Amino acid sequence: MPRVRVHQHVNPLTPYFRFTPKPLEIEKLYARPELPQHLDIGCARGRFILKMAQIEPNHNFLGVEIREPLVGEANRVAQGKNLSNLHYEFCNAMIALDKLLENLPENLLQTVTIQFPDPWFKKKHAKRRMVNQELVETVVNHLAENGKIFVQTDIEFLAEEMFGLFRKNTSLREIEITENPFPVKTEREMAVEEKDLPIFRVLYEKIK
Ligand SMILES: C[S@@+](CC[C@H](N)C(=O)[O-])C[C@H]1O[C@@H](n2cnc3c(N)ncnc32)[C@H](O)[C@@H]1O
Repeated sequence: MPRVRVHQHVNPLTPYFRFTPKPLEIEKLYARPELPQHLDIGCARGRFILKMAQIEPNHNFLGVEIREPLVGEANRVAQGKNLSNLHYEFCNAMIALDKLLENLPENLLQTVTIQFPDPWFKKKHAKRRMVNQELVETVVNHLAENGKIFVQTDIEFLAEEMFGLFRKNTSLREIEITENPFPVKTEREMAVEEKDLPIFRVLYEKIK
């Protein structure tokens, strides 16, 4: 299947992306909705959770992405592979994730991954960065007790900014890691490793 072409970035603050999604009805999305849930935020083409869904049939995987054509493409690929534990949603995670997850049963969300989010380098564009205080609160509120959040980026200033936001949340315990704890790497992670550049990573656990 040819890869769908998309803009490299979209501005999440424009009116088009300020929509309110319908809350997910997981019983319609997964063959076994009761399975532990893994959420990948800013999943792009979704290949990371595609491979994870193949390796871990006893988990359900949800990818959220703001570039709409990628979501359609990723769902078509998942269907082509008959994966009934994988789904992708078009969502502006920085403002609408809470609504999307509103009906998710408590204690189902076991794992959240946020990998190489767009840095929006310029100070005047800082408000476009996906990981803001609201996103952190949303993720922690929906996360199961002992659930894990994995965050990684190759941009040092963004790592400091994101880790600072997570550290403010007293429900989380920070676990220092040097390696990606998952058996799969995202496309961006592989590209960064190929250039031999450093990657900044942290794992958080919800303790209360
Ligand atoms: C640099 S890419 C990294 C993609 C993938 N996680 C990886 O590591 O290869 C960042 C992704 O986050 C998506 N993104 C940025 N802001 C977003 C937002 N507010 N809501 C959902 N996705 C967003 C972008 O469209 C892009 O696909």
